[in-house]
Amino acid sequence: MDLQGRNLIAPLDLSVAEMEWLFDLAGRIIARPEDYADVCKGKLLATVFYEASTRTRLSFEAAMLRLGGQVIGFSEPQSSSVIKGESISDTIRTIASYADIAVMRHPKEGAALVAARQSGIPLINAGDGGHFHPTQTLTDLLTIRLEKGSFDGITIGVCGDLKFGRTAHSLVCAFSRYSGVRFIMISPDELRIPEYVRDEISHLEFEEVRDLTDALPQLDVLYMTRVQKERFFNEEDYIRLKDSYILNAAKLKNAKPDLMILHPLPRVNEIAADVDDDPRAFYFRQMRNGMYIRMALLMALLGKGV
Ligand code: CP
Repeated sequence: MDLQGRNLIAPLDLSVAEMEWLFDLAGRIIARPEDYADVCKGKLLATVFYEASTRTRLSFEAAMLRLGGQVIGFSEPQSSSVIKGESISDTIRTIASYADIAVMRHPKEGAALVAARQSGIPLINAGDGGHFHPTQTLTDLLTIRLEKGSFDGITIGVCGDLKFGRTAHSLVCAFSRYSGVRFIMISPDELRIPEYVRDEISHLEFEEVRDLTDALPQLDVLYMTRVQKERFFNEEDYIRLKDSYILNAAKLKNAKPDLMILHPLPRVNEIAADVDDDPRAFYFRQMRNGMYIRMALLMALLGKGV
């Protein structure tokens, strides 16, 4: 599989075969990480983060360092020349003259696409506003695949802020190519999935509901999401909607014994701490898988050792 030199901007940029190949590579890295300790030696990753991140930035940095490469970048745009008014295009041209591959997060939808047109090096979208977050989706699909073996016949409940949640948008779009998947979208009316995402799965079985408790017994995977405070136009709406769903141990009594509870994290109140020790809570394992799939992705886009 040749992914060398490619960008990853949107979840459909990778074919099903390419994603499956990355999952297999991530599985091999998980099994024998020592075999991959030097494969990116001499390569430099730039992390370009205009918006806050813990997992995505640090897992990309850890991934590159564990592959023997090195990392430069910024996580506070105020410390870069962005503060002097430099454009995304000029910033990415600058970074491309120093690094071999770049990862970018930006609060504006479409920013990664604009940057990729100027980059000349592989560019990975680490989240563009409320639009897409494709490497979170690779993380999510890898986690389900490692546990369930395949995606055939599974029912996925996506719950919370489906309007602004870029991880939910990416997940749903990526699954649009897997015909054996059924979706139940669980959200308040104000936070329903946008039309452009719903259109992607119009050929699949899906329903939109408001109640999590009623939907829970049907689910094989429950994908919880945070209400995205930073995307709201007024605080009143956020306060009214922020605790729409709070999953706790008591609510799980009617759930399947092999349910997988996923969350891209960070969480606020939507999953209570008393769920963390339930064997169905997969979100911390999911977070760790993010580093392994990013190792596989960096290797593939750099054409290294594959
Ligand atoms: N899941 C995710 O994108 O987490 P961060 O915002 O911490 O990177």
